[in-house]
Amino acid sequence: MSSCVRSFQDVVRSRHSVRGFLPSPIPRNELEELFQEAQYAPSNCNTQPWNVHVVGADKLKRLSDALVEALAQEHYSPDFSFDTHDYPPPYKQRAADQGGRYYQALGVARGDSLSRAEVVARNVRFFGAPHVAFLFMPAVGDNVRVAADVGMYAQTLLLALAARGYAGVPQTILGSFAETVRHALGVSDDLKLLFGISFGVPDDSHASSGYREGRIAVEESVVWHE
Ligand SMILES: Cc1cc2nc3c(=O)[nH]c(=O)nc-3n(C[C@H](O)[C@H](O)[C@H](O)COP(=O)(O)O)c2cc1C
Repeated sequence: MSSCVRSFQDVVRSRHSVRGFLPSPIPRNELEELFQEAQYAPSNCNTQPWNVHVVGADKLKRLSDALVEALAQEHYSPDFSFDTHDYPPPYKQRAADQGGRYYQALGVARGDSLSRAEVVARNVRFFGAPHVAFLFMPAVGDNVRVAADVGMYAQTLLLALAARGYAGVPQTILGSFAETVRHALGVSDDLKLLFGISFGVPDDSHASSGYREGRIAVEESVVWHE
């Protein structure tokens, strides 16, 4: 293992969603190591239901163009629902607060719909990242167990990236265009798109680079019974 792999605590605490990347790709041998490490994620009965499509180079540009077009045409085709308004308190408020902090960090005013649209559009340009991984899964029952497994996989991949000084951002918004992505990549309808992860080398000069989300106190999440 490379000596630059940092301590576990450092990696977990420094990992954050990056929304501005340099165009330089991650070397192929390191890409393979990253996905090898993600493969160690746990899953229900070791089903390993993640089906991952990693896109880069010219294909990434073509896919991004297709997604920009789908977004402009409002051609949404999500396999799974997502609306923060459906969340009960306190989660709905947390989502609203996160959005507010993000736009504030970028200097986008509340009523500035044009800039907000541009911030959304950066998602489908993968925030300039040279790679994106699409996390597909088979449809099983109400899908909750399989989605949990894919979440385990995603965090393992994000930590593997952080350990090497790379970064990623999970993006539910990419799942809003499941048909566009399946069509572009030749993926069967049997596989459902949970979300995508844009990843690469963080651009420390990007306007969003200083933006960080905090966490609620442990006592608000964990109840000790002893
Ligand atoms: C499953 C999942 C989907 C997400 N989707 C998006 C997204 O579509 N666009 C985006 O900019 N951030 C997205 N995020 C990033 C969250 O906003 C971020 O994880 C959260 O604010 C905490 O910040 P941190 O990751 O920097 O710790 C997503 C995160 C997760 C786990």
